Amino acid sequence: MKKPSASILIIDDEPYIQEVIKRGLNSFDYHFETANHAVEAIEKLRGKSFDLVISDIKMPWGDGIYLLNYIKTNYPDTAVIILTAIYEVQTAIKCLRNGAYNYITKPFEVTTLAFSIKEALEKRRLTLENKEYQRNLEGRLLQQTEHLRQIYLDTVKTIANCLEAKDVYTRGHSKRVTDYALQLAKTTSQSPEFMYQIQLSGLLHDIGKIGISEAILNKSGELTQEEYDQIKLHPNISIHILKPIIHDGEIIDNIQYHHERLDGLGYPNGRKGDAIPLGARILSVADAFDAMTSDRAYRKAMSMEKAISELESNAGTQFDADLIPSFIYILNSVTSLQELWHLSGLIIDNFTQGCIE
Ligand SMILES: [Fe+2]
Repeated sequence: MKKPSASILIIDDEPYIQEVIKRGLNSFDYHFETANHAVEAIEKLRGKSFDLVISDIKMPWGDGIYLLNYIKTNYPDTAVIILTAIYEVQTAIKCLRNGAYNYITKPFEVTTLAFSIKEALEKRRLTLENKEYQRNLEGRLLQQTEHLRQIYLDTVKTIANCLEAKDVYTRGHSKRVTDYALQLAKTTSQSPEFMYQIQLSGLLHDIGKIGISEAILNKSGELTQEEYDQIKLHPNISIHILKPIIHDGEIIDNIQYHHERLDGLGYPNGRKGDAIPLGARILSVADAFDAMTSDRAYRKAMSMEKAISELESNAGTQFDADLIPSFIYILNSVTSLQELWHLSGLIIDNFTQGCIE
């Protein structure tokens, strides 16, 4: 059996009118149901969806204007035609303003009603098509955004790898700093966007070292003051490189201030305390911990215990004292640093989803 082209609910307290409509339109493949008053109509509307409603105005237990508002609020995709014996311009205007497609007065020509139904259904179809198109468009935009974000992240990782190819002693440093920073950031209950900023800041925090001589970066002996002054330029070089492509000021600040100290003795600006962004304070802890636990040209890696002791000794002077206990708790709760890096991978998956939503 062929599916009807539209499902129509006729609401009128006169059964005669219901019959006239059904018979007058029986050449169309519409499915009709009827209701004698507003309460019965609402029950039917709750039970199934209708493409169109033809409603009288004057009915017992709730008039057609109330019903029109109810339908437009709860079933906005259902078209409504008002069919009434009341001819008042103000009432007609009110119905049309409230979302009725047409206002037809009794007695009526069936052909007029048929034409109005056809037009109302066509308008409804176009509206639904447009809504569907908008939904698909939003879905495609979200996919594109995710795709671009992924390309961007891959590019960032490539840039970080370029740096580490140059400085053999810091190979993997950016990734490890990101892992530590993400774990620590998680304890501060910040937003997915903050986590995203930490991820990019961590991967790119030392990118400015590209502008520092390899002889200085890989020097096995102690640095001279002049060489150390060169190293201290790298946060500002990073910003110079990144500003044209990164427009998130939080990420830029995290990178610029990751060598600042709570007591103001850091570089490049000598910022103190809360003037250093939380993201930069987190990176500072992560960066120092990885530097201490990695081999360098001029020394072997420290043990984890010794590095933890260094963090504790410098809490409140170099590092944010509120972050150190959380970081030590994280370090003590994993059996190896590799386990911690794996956990960070899980965080990235979760917050990337959060950012897209
Ligand atoms: Fe650095």
